[in-house]
Amino acid sequence: MRLRRDAKIERIANVPLFSRCSKRELAQIGRLADEMELPAGTVAVREGAYGQEFFVLESGTVEVSKQGKVVATLGPGDFFGEIALLHNAPRTATVTAKTPVEALVVSHRDFSSLLATSPQIQSKILQALAERLAPASI
Ligand code: CMP
Repeated sequence: MRLRRDAKIERIANVPLFSRCSKRELAQIGRLADEMELPAGTVAVREGAYGQEFFVLESGTVEVSKQGKVVATLGPGDFFGEIALLHNAPRTATVTAKTPVEALVVSHRDFSSLLATSPQIQSKILQALAERLAPASI
């Protein structure tokens, strides 16, 4: 049991979003986040739907598309699903697994605790949010 928890915390520590976290913070994230496997082709998040989860990719690749057009490909260490949770709005894009994916998943309720865990996590998530919401022409 303990070995499995240690392995999970090690995987969390390898995610850049959590790279500045202390052991205590990593243990807290380990309690908040579930690990999930998504087969290739799974739609994790659908544009226009209301969603309740934030995802951090541990392995595999996903494609982000808006109105049928691919706008980004995300890989290990990347995250998605933050916009609807911060904004309380429908999902801004569809995210589809292009390969089998392993991800950490945090529920809406635990997302605020995750943000409160460290200012570095907050700032990385807010930076991505700003980039993703900015018009492409800027
Ligand atoms: P959310 O709107 O909750 O669900 C879809 C997610 O796709 C969104 O959060 C972001 O995490 C992600 N996303 C949206 N637009 C982009 C983009 N231009 N580049 C990368 N990821 C994006």
